[in-house]
Amino acid sequence: MGKVHTEGDPQPRDAALATDSDEFRAAGHALVDQLADFLTSLPERPVTRDLDQPAVRDLLGTRPLPEHGEDLAAVLPTTVELLADNSLFNSHPKFMAYITSSAAPVGALGDLIAAVMNPNLGGWTLSAVASEIETQTVQWIAELLRYPSGSGGLLVSGGNVANFIGFLAARRAKTGADIREKGLIQNGQRLTVYCSSGTHTWIQKAADLFGLGTEAVRWIPADADHRMDMAQLEATIQADREAGFTPLLVVGTAGTVGVGAVDPLREIGALCQREDIWFHVDGAYGALAAAVDDVPADLHALALADSVAVDPHKWLYTPLEAGCALLKDPRHLVDAFSFTPEYYFFGEGEDRPINYYELGLQNSRGFRALKVWLGLRVAGRAGAAKMIEDDIALTERLHGRIDEHPDFEARTLSLSISTFRYMPAGMEAQEDLNRFNQALLERLQEEGKFYPSNAIVDGDFLLRACVVNFRTEAKDVDEIPEIVAATARAMLETSAVSE
Ligand SMILES: Cc1ncc(COP(=O)(O)O)c(C=O)c1O
Repeated sequence: MGKVHTEGDPQPRDAALATDSDEFRAAGHALVDQLADFLTSLPERPVTRDLDQPAVRDLLGTRPLPEHGEDLAAVLPTTVELLADNSLFNSHPKFMAYITSSAAPVGALGDLIAAVMNPNLGGWTLSAVASEIETQTVQWIAELLRYPSGSGGLLVSGGNVANFIGFLAARRAKTGADIREKGLIQNGQRLTVYCSSGTHTWIQKAADLFGLGTEAVRWIPADADHRMDMAQLEATIQADREAGFTPLLVVGTAGTVGVGAVDPLREIGALCQREDIWFHVDGAYGALAAAVDDVPADLHALALADSVAVDPHKWLYTPLEAGCALLKDPRHLVDAFSFTPEYYFFGEGEDRPINYYELGLQNSRGFRALKVWLGLRVAGRAGAAKMIEDDIALTERLHGRIDEHPDFEARTLSLSISTFRYMPAGMEAQEDLNRFNQALLERLQEEGKFYPSNAIVDGDFLLRACVVNFRTEAKDVDEIPEIVAATARAMLETSAVSE
């Protein structure tokens, strides 16, 4: 086969993946039509079917890699059908588990453009306009958060990596220049990090991966409102200093993953300044709510943070994946991440254009900024803020409906997370209530009419609804109490019958 290209007159290639423009156009138009129909059908579908792994594996079968390729026009529609019939839809108006938003169509179209243009945003010369679009996207996100002008950052895969960037920038900035050559062992400092007990698990991964070890994490208890207890934070830092540790950074969370609590960011910022400790905010979920006026006041103190992690794939409704790391002084990124090997000839000196491979963990980088940038252009600042405000209002409405209902106990409400539990008549022991609500959660998730997750608050197993969904309407939240109550009653009836 190789001889075709090495001998004789030049012949056109017959490349298996070459698609002529007529074929691309026809397949693309049909695909967009099919996806538009799917989106229209979404509210009428269950959030998920009760899927188990063997059954889903059977759908694909065990056939080996096919020797010969298939027709593009045939594989696309059948793939959409496969996914539409066998997926959990986090874009569904009644999907309220975890913090995975409903994805806006503009983001999907943005991904299509990005994939066709396929710039490599590792280096500016490989992606001139695209790199500038990323820079503008980061600046617009900072504006939404009311984070200082002059800040900078980059887009990453999500909240975990955005938090890692802040962590690594702190490690370099607070331990000195040679940490990157000598490593932590030779550096000799015993570094410690501080965060509330409600902090997301990324902190454990960071402490482990970046050489501190998970024992370096000081989990500071939270108060009755699930916010970091400042007296405990101060006391722990002092005790660590006396014991010879070096406090590296304090993590304040803007919207905890469990109940949406916002730590006392203003006080943490002041403490970090006094103590010369890096202040990082995990705002993966809640930082974008700083765009709204009427939210917990501490969200308007993000400007005190040295770094902030924020997730467009949460409250900007960007399709997965899109996270963003913001640094008040973006030079810390170059200090923490830059190497300039001889085989990358992307300019030299202080005024070389921004080469994103020097600012983070990745080398080759896709154009994930485009879907975020287009979303911000289509929504505008006011539109983005209004969607978040509406999500919060709908959550308050849900919490109110639950509270009015005689069969429920409404528990926490913060940002767009409400927690509650079903209270069967006569059931009082905590273990029984926990067992019942856990079984109720499983049943609700199997049924797929409303899809919550759970939170554990003061030892109680609660249902948890989180609205990050511009597709959710007031009528959806009004239907939820009765959906849950009907499922609970059916469970109680069958258990009474089987007793
Ligand atoms: C507060 C918080 N931090 C970090 C993360 C991790 O974000 P990602 O899943 O985008 O990596 C989450 C995810 O829900 C979160 O809620």
